[in-house]
Amino acid sequence: MGISFDNLAPPRWGGEVPDRVERPACRLGPDLVIDPPVVLSPMAAVTNPPFRMICREMGAGMVVTEMIHARLLLEGDERTLQFLDLRKNEHPVGVQLFGNDPVMLAEAAARVVEEGADSVDLNMGCPMKKIVTSGCGAGLLKNTDLIYEIFKTMGDAVDVPLTGKIRAGWEDSNAVDVGLAMQDAGASAVTIHGRTRGEMYDGHADLGVIAELKRAVDLVVIGNGDVRDWQSARRMFHATNCDAVMVARGALGNPWVFREIKADLDGLAIPAPPDLDDRRRVLTRHVELYVETFGVERTTFEIRKHLLWYFRGSAGEKVLRKALRGLKTQADILEALDAACEACRLASPEPPIQASS
Ligand SMILES: Cc1cc2nc3c(=O)[nH]c(=O)nc-3n(C[C@H](O)[C@H](O)[C@H](O)COP(=O)(O)O)c2cc1C
Repeated sequence: MGISFDNLAPPRWGGEVPDRVERPACRLGPDLVIDPPVVLSPMAAVTNPPFRMICREMGAGMVVTEMIHARLLLEGDERTLQFLDLRKNEHPVGVQLFGNDPVMLAEAAARVVEEGADSVDLNMGCPMKKIVTSGCGAGLLKNTDLIYEIFKTMGDAVDVPLTGKIRAGWEDSNAVDVGLAMQDAGASAVTIHGRTRGEMYDGHADLGVIAELKRAVDLVVIGNGDVRDWQSARRMFHATNCDAVMVARGALGNPWVFREIKADLDGLAIPAPPDLDDRRRVLTRHVELYVETFGVERTTFEIRKHLLWYFRGSAGEKVLRKALRGLKTQADILEALDAACEACRLASPEPPIQASS
């Protein structure tokens, strides 16, 4: 997908850390409050139930599923239906849909609400060629009339808040036009990743575009792009006046980012980075939730990338990479984790480098 982590690596923002910004919980609808106003981004092949639950436990105020193809959902595609597995203790959870047919999206929205979605989100940001050439994802940004029709039709079908996740625009920013179309159609919130489709993941998110959108609409505005710690969250709130922030790459291997941002919003001391024992405990829980949800065989394949994210840049990474070959059982996974933790311990009495650094 051409996703880069470079823009999350230091030094990525010079200058002073802005003063703390007070932000109350953010209301999306009569029954839906994001508290604290920090959301886990939708991420394909990442934000499945185990990861969503870990992030909620770490303090995320809301989580969003991976994107779900509306047509495949309605056709009963087995793999797509699995994405609709919402757990009792992860709410509030938004379900992200992907498609461009208003009637189909409205039917899919009704279906996901039946399954317990607290809100329904429309993907208007995916930059992949295959997706945009079919007029979906960021391809929708070129057609504000269609965006209006989609939200209107979905709004007639469901009672939960409707949200849309956009990029700043296609090549140039048209976020305000998109936001106003959504607002006129009755949407509740817009999440904006401050890069255009053309920018993919290059450079840094443009906070000015997010601020402009916030000034122009009455919708809840959720700022997204390069938030990876309490300092960058402050900067997003400060520079854009957004109502909530959304974190994607900064949470990969680092669900602690939510507790950090929550503490800062609450005016509390920023918790120390997790030590090895904390990490071992959360990783073990992540593995257990994964096995419980998907079974051991699937876990041994899919958990690898998560574990590597947790140890990225640490002395345990190389050891882990080797130990991850040939995993078969849950015990094998935990042994690989122990080996990685031990390598970190031997290399330094300090905890490994923050996963997102
Ligand atoms: C692995 C991965 C998968 C993603 N999948 C989705 C997706 O399914 N839907 C979506 O709207 N955005 C998706 N995104 C984009 C993120 O939600 C987010 O907008 C983007 O990464 C910028 O935020 P960040 O700087 O916090 O990473 C994905 C990003 C990553 C890294």
